[in-house]
Amino acid sequence: METTIIGWSSGVKISVFGLGFVGLTTALGFSRKGYTVYGIEKDERKMVAIKNGKMPFMESGLDKALNAYLEKNFYVRSVQEAKEALNDSDCVFFCVGTPCGSSGAADLSHLKTAIDQAICSFTNDKFHVLVIKSTIPPSTTSEIIVPYVREKAKDNRSIGIANNPEFLREGYCWNDFCSPDRIVIGVEDKKSEEILRELYRSFDAPILSVNYSTAEFIKYLSNSVLATMISYANEMSIIADLIGNIDVANAFKILHMDKRWNNCSMTSYFYPGCGYGGYCLPKDTEALRAISKAKGFDPLILSQVIKTNENMPAKVAQMIMKKVNKTDKIGILGLSFKPNSDDVRETPSAKIIEELQKAGYENITAYDPVAVDNFMIEYPSIAIEFSRDLCDIVRVSDCLVIVTGWREFKSIKTSKTIIDCRYCMVDGDGR
Ligand SMILES: NC(=O)c1ccc[n+]([C@@H]2O[C@H](COP(=O)([O-])OP(=O)(O)OC[C@H]3O[C@@H](n4cnc5c(N)ncnc54)[C@H](O)[C@@H]3O)[C@@H](O)[C@H]2O)c1
Repeated sequence: METTIIGWSSGVKISVFGLGFVGLTTALGFSRKGYTVYGIEKDERKMVAIKNGKMPFMESGLDKALNAYLEKNFYVRSVQEAKEALNDSDCVFFCVGTPCGSSGAADLSHLKTAIDQAICSFTNDKFHVLVIKSTIPPSTTSEIIVPYVREKAKDNRSIGIANNPEFLREGYCWNDFCSPDRIVIGVEDKKSEEILRELYRSFDAPILSVNYSTAEFIKYLSNSVLATMISYANEMSIIADLIGNIDVANAFKILHMDKRWNNCSMTSYFYPGCGYGGYCLPKDTEALRAISKAKGFDPLILSQVIKTNENMPAKVAQMIMKKVNKTDKIGILGLSFKPNSDDVRETPSAKIIEELQKAGYENITAYDPVAVDNFMIEYPSIAIEFSRDLCDIVRVSDCLVIVTGWREFKSIKTSKTIIDCRYCMVDGDGR
């Protein structure tokens, strides 16, 4: 049962642009606090699903929250229906996508469109804070967003601007939002800061106010260090494989026992696998590199982190090819970019399958507990068979390749070859 916590004032109204992983979580997380929340989504299919209480993606805990708050204090609006909600809102959160644009820089077009839509809806004198939760590179708020808002709003001073990076992990969105480690607010005016501090007051976490660029930088610092740990662990596993006779999984697990790691869950990022994927790490490392280059510095470590990651699918495919014949039936286990998620954006599985097909391995079937449909939609050109049942794929394949570390793969009982690219069949969690 979801419990509603009555916030400092249930009269506070919030609008949230974009009901993806971050936006829907944010909207429902504030609904839980007792605020009135309007979720605005431009994708008709997604918007209608949410309006009918159906989750458009898999995310543990969000389905229950959606059913608890929908039409109680969480209301879904299409962009066309959102004018009144926006005009009434004290805070407007922007949780729209910021994908990789040309030359790796973050594409701000969705964000700018949503800002336009918000500003066009403001017809009263109410003070509105525009809160950017979308990930945008350091300096974007001060150099692009503030001038953009001032121009569009005809220098209207009743609009505040804030940056509020989100650190949630897909697969754990609800818990991470409801129980954050820290809340970072990039803010440069007192009124917006007071409103946001009050909004987040009942969250059990330190609220840290910094300037715009520092808030933006903290998010990139976080994602780029995670990417670096993953690429470094992968590079080490390649060296170990080349030297030979090294138990890679065990070596990493013993490393993690060093008390300097202090049993922290970061160790799951310092573990070899198939390379990072998903929406955030690939595009955010690219965007950080792009802005660094634009400011005149070529970041060599970051560039190598990206390159190592780009090379990983080919490396993994070569390792598979050494163990499998072209005529063998290969069963790929796992299509989402990580377990407990149906997100297939930038998933290493797609790249590994493509590498195998390029090399003439045609007999491929793939299974994933939740991501098969998303994979078929996202990668229509990848022609392989799909299986909906783990026992079936184990039965029909000559050899199994674990590409996503789903827990259920640990229970596979077979005498067939299993190539564990995630090192997840060993004791403990792996990745
Ligand atoms: N996914 C994560 O784990 C995560 C974590 C932290 C931060 N972020 C950042 O948060 C942002 C959103 O990420 P996401 O994973 O939720 O993306 P997403 O693609 O799942 O969701 C974005 C949503 O915004 C909608 N949208 C775009 N323009 C709109 C508009 N004008 N009006 C209404 N809706 C609009 C899209 O249709 C989509 O449903 C990105 O900048 C991302 O980098 C993501």
